[in-house]
Amino acid sequence: MLSKTILVTGGAGYIGSHAAVQLLNAGSNVVVLDNLCNSNDEVLNRIETITGTRPKFIEGDIRDRSCLDRVFSEYSIGAVIHFAGLKAVGESTQVPLHYYQNNVYGTMVLCEAMAAADVKQLVFSSSATVYGEDAPIPYIETMPRGKRSNPYGTSKAMVEQILTDLCKSDGEWSIALLRYFNPIGAHPSGLIGEDPKGIPNNLMPFISQVAVGKRKELSIFGNDYPTNDGTCERDYLHVMDLADGHLAALGCLSDGGVHTYNLGTGSGTSVLEMVNSFQDVTGVEVPYSFAPRREGDLPAFWADTSKAEKELGWKASRTLDEMMADTWNWQSKNPNGFDV
Ligand code: NAD
Ligand code: WQD
Repeated sequence: MLSKTILVTGGAGYIGSHAAVQLLNAGSNVVVLDNLCNSNDEVLNRIETITGTRPKFIEGDIRDRSCLDRVFSEYSIGAVIHFAGLKAVGESTQVPLHYYQNNVYGTMVLCEAMAAADVKQLVFSSSATVYGEDAPIPYIETMPRGKRSNPYGTSKAMVEQILTDLCKSDGEWSIALLRYFNPIGAHPSGLIGEDPKGIPNNLMPFISQVAVGKRKELSIFGNDYPTNDGTCERDYLHVMDLADGHLAALGCLSDGGVHTYNLGTGSGTSVLEMVNSFQDVTGVEVPYSFAPRREGDLPAFWADTSKAEKELGWKASRTLDEMMADTWNWQSKNPNGFDV
């Protein structure tokens, strides 16, 4: 089915490595381009162990046009899945230019190189954050992009607009904008998973690092939100389902134009429910205390997933229990991530 060669930018990272595994399993050739600014090349050994195939790897930067030109001339790339970028919301408010340079300028350089090589099929990692602060839930793709409070979110919205304009200018482009909700979990082998550098910003790796003894306790940011138990609700999906969503999107890239899809499960889970579920599934206690709200957090949001289901034939199928079990399998086998 997916037999062509796919360039995976950011393929050494959390989501990209899981997508690389699923692409290899589906019979594609995979070329990974990553500057390793937030990843470790040990992941390539692990991908090889899982799939029996080592993806081609280029340590390089999407902002480096000559590097991209070399990649496109050396390999016969059929499509690009573009994960490379910076993703820490808080950090983006400290160093906004760095975020716009990597995420916006980097994508523009990539698209210029693609156009020059006549490769015009692209899957882009967008985010539910583009719906902004005032969107009603569930989020539906037909809603306009909304007001955002941080440069990370703005960078994703800017790239969506740039890619939309690109498709309007040239009907040969075919682009999928995939708006991820909250990916968690790991490959069931426990060989690859999320390996944040420093203190995790996100809930799931924080929970698993507390469980493995690397952190003392979880701070739950806010217990006075207008939700069932007062803690925020999010739409957590298994990273393997998310990876499969990229293969589904690639398979639908032939008809031109820009297509936007939510990738989530369609239901919300609170922070307290996440902690309880992790404890129930793993039998490991996660000490926590309540802390003030984190600036910029919304009380609750989740996806309307009907468009992806109807047009891509994709639906998240892995349960919350599997997300917890696979996170713990990865974290307990690799307490220090890829630093072996
Ligand atoms: P990640 O940091 O694990 O992976 C990103 C990879 O891109 C890393 O390996 C990093 O080294 C690489 N990279 C960064 N800048 C680069 C550059 N200029 N040139 C080459 N490589 C570069 O992050 P992830 O969680 O796998 O996220 C992948 C994509 O999905 C990102 O674009 C992110 O914004 C988006 N996204 C992630 C989430 C999430 O919760 N993880 C949610 C929505 C969207
Ligand atoms: C989830 C919930 C926190 C940590 C972010 C980005 C989004 C996308 C996914 C990248 C919230 C609470 C967290 C902790 C806590 N990123 N929490 N204690 O904020 O929904 O989304 O990651 O592309 O753009 O904004 O995810 O995992 O950070 O937080 O109580 O130590 O967990 O307040 O309610 P979020 P998260």
